[in-house]
Amino acid sequence: MKRRSFLKKASLTGVAVAVGSNLIAKNAREEEKSDSLYDGVAKDFPIVISTWNVPNATLKAGELLELGYSSIDAVEQGCMIEEADIKNQSVGFGGRPDRDGNVTLDACIMNKKGDYGAVVYMQNIVHAISIARKVMENTPHVMLAGKGAEEFAVASGYKKTNLLTQESKIAWENWKKEADYQPIINIENHDTIGMLAIDKNGDISGGCTTSGLAYKMAGRIGDSPIIGSGLFIDNEIGGATATGMGEEVLKTVGSFLIVELMRQGKSPQQACEEAIRRIVVNNSNFKNFQVGYIAINKKGETGFYSIHEYFSVSIYENKICKNHLSDFYNKNG
Ligand code: GLY
Repeated sequence: MKRRSFLKKASLTGVAVAVGSNLIAKNAREEEKSDSLYDGVAKDFPIVISTWNVPNATLKAGELLELGYSSIDAVEQGCMIEEADIKNQSVGFGGRPDRDGNVTLDACIMNKKGDYGAVVYMQNIVHAISIARKVMENTPHVMLAGKGAEEFAVASGYKKTNLLTQESKIAWENWKKEADYQPIINIENHDTIGMLAIDKNGDISGGCTTSGLAYKMAGRIGDSPIIGSGLFIDNEIGGATATGMGEEVLKTVGSFLIVELMRQGKSPQQACEEAIRRIVVNNSNFKNFQVGYIAINKKGETGFYSIHEYFSVSIYENKICKNHLSDFYNKNG
């Protein structure tokens, strides 16, 4: 829709209700949006959506955005809350180890310009999301792995920390007694933390951070640090991120798929549902693993969907953060 017709529609529908400088600011923003693919009216920004029930992380991002911080600052600092949380055993410090007892972290971040940075299989550094951002901003590369990522983090001023907490060590030692590798569908209501944010300027960024599957094989990398699979942002269209069984997300390049489906006109909800359908349609094993997607479009509409029940999301909107239980595919158990 062209600028003039958009503004006409906005005033006719009574959307431009603010007065004074607010009205000018809102009109300026709507004018900017009129060049996007979308008709209609944007929600009030900022907005944050995160995988799982992570109110502290989501609120942190939302509050920073209210103060005028950029979406990339907000997703980094929001994800850092979960990375530092000893109770979250799927991310950062206290994450569950691989089958050899090593906690290895994967993370990536993507900004409004389509720049991307990632770390894979990184050990001994709590804030994988920050190192991913440093890879993006301070190196000529997009991804660093293992020792190289760790050395880069130390050279960037981060201190080494043993990420294996007593609680995760005991759980791993118990697991070793049987060593039965059964990926758990919803790990204590937590898994990879993916976060998407729109700042006051309407610019979208995303981040994704995880310790990966508990008791994975040494060297295993999941979807979370892989652009297009665990995360994808196109600031013209929207963003998407994933949680759950990384192998299945990787095979279907899920986050890129969702953004491309939104580009073709699907809502974030429709796009998430189609991406889940692509996973299950040719996979008779889908009852044994979980995948959840979240998405946001340029208007600020959100969507989320999973294979199984109990996936939930945190949404910060209108200065309030709420947890929402996701609809899901496998209604027949
Ligand atoms: N989605 C996280 C992983 O599979 O590693």
